[in-house]
This record gives sequence, structure tokens and C-alpha cells, in this order.
Amino acid sequence: MNTPIGIFDSGVGGTSIWKEITQLLPAQATVYLADSRNAPYGNKSKEAIIALSIKNTELLLSYNCKLIVVACNTATTNAIDFLRKKYSVPFVGIEPAIKPAALQTKTKKVGVLATKGTLSSALFHNTAKLHASGIEILEQEGAGLVELIEKGEYASEAISDLLKRYLYPMLDAGMDCLVLGCTHYPYLLPTIKKILPGHITIIDSGEAVARQTKTLLEKYDLAKTQKTTPIHQFYSNQNVGLLSHFVNSRTVQVSYLDF
Ligand code: DGL
Repeated sequence: MNTPIGIFDSGVGGTSIWKEITQLLPAQATVYLADSRNAPYGNKSKEAIIALSIKNTELLLSYNCKLIVVACNTATTNAIDFLRKKYSVPFVGIEPAIKPAALQTKTKKVGVLATKGTLSSALFHNTAKLHASGIEILEQEGAGLVELIEKGEYASEAISDLLKRYLYPMLDAGMDCLVLGCTHYPYLLPTIKKILPGHITIIDSGEAVARQTKTLLEKYDLAKTQKTTPIHQFYSNQNVGLLSHFVNSRTVQVSYLDF
């Protein structure tokens, strides 16, 4: 099937997932929605996050998307169950990679940096209960980080100061694995690596999401069959320049869309 897959996030963060997906599925066309006007989702109520996720899903379905990737931990942990019940199209979600971290930690202390909305969700707590028994999860809300990234700041002094404030207490508590529980945060990796000692393992879920996308396309017989060059359409309802910067490619179209 040659129709696109749809991807949405509260802003530019989900482009970190788009990159993983196009690396694994280079022939696959995509439509990406950056709902930057409504970022951050992380401070909103579950109801508001569900309403925004419905809006984004309906728009992606109007582009004939055959599968939707919710490239946002906050939207996944608060809305994906609802989306799966409401729509027949398959959904791939992203949530903090607690399971691989629980398997790797030696100190039995895993740090999770994520939004308030993700950390307070039932799905996050159920996953932790299921896959991290006997492991202490050190939860840290990344307040302010998404807002700065959405302004184009990802290596500034303000970012570095906030990260130090969030990461040092987890280090002091004995964490040896840090889970990046927000799709915006992989863009902070160079700064995070400057702050954390080299023995700390940093884990995000991007590659796993790409693999799951491939698995579902095959399972539902939706994989692309024709050998045409894929079209990648990117839409932002706030800052087209920033989105273009994050995808940093000549092979994609980035446009403003009022949604
Ligand atoms: N990229 C979103 C996530 O993964 C950011 C959340 C937000 O907008 O607060 O959680």
C-alpha cells in the first residue's frame, strides 16, 4: 500500500522518531504534524490531551494515512487507548523505555526524565509495575525543557542549568540508567552527556518505535510495494522555520497549516 504513515507530536520532538522511522523504512512516505501552537502537552489535563490527539488523528486520516505513530510520550500515555478504541487504523505509541532500563541497571535505580503528563499517567505506572519490580524508579519532571526546545533552544545555558537541576539529584540517588521519556529530549543528548558521567546508560525508545512500525505494517499487509521515491510532508501550526531546521533535509516539504 503506497499511502503515507502519519506521525504527530506536540511540536518538533517527534522528528527524532521520524528520523528513526525513515532510516528503517526509507521507501515509506510520511505526513508529520507538529502541533507546536498547543505545546507543551505535558501540563494539560488528560481530557485536553485526548481532544488534541483526536484533532491530529482526524487530520492525518484526511491525508489517507494507513497507520499513525503517536510520536509523543505524553499523548501516548494519556490518549492511545482512547484512539485505538475510536479508530480502526493501527496506532504505534511511544512510552518511556522502562523495561530495557530495568534489564540493564546494576544499581537497581533508574532515572526517568519525562513530562508531568507522562509521569502522572496510569499507563506509565502500570508499565513500571509490570517491568520494573524491585527497581527504584526516580521520576523527574522536565519542566520547561519542551518550551525552550520549541523556541529553538536546545544547547543554551538555560537548558544546561535546568538539566543540571534535574539530573544531579538522580545521580546522587544512585541512578546508573537514564530514560529519556519525551521525544523532544534526544535533541538534548549532547548537553546531557556533558553533565552525566560516562558510565551512565542513556536510553530512549526511538528505535523500538521504528521497529514496531515496521512490524505492524507487515502484520496488516500495509507495507509499501511500489519503488517510487517517498514524499515527506511536514506541517507546523506555529513555526515552520524551526520544524525545517529539525528535519534538516532537502527531500521534505515543510509548510504552515492552521490545525
Ligand atoms: N514530545 C512530547 C513527549 O514526548 C512533548 C510533551 C509536551 O508537549 O509537553 O512527551
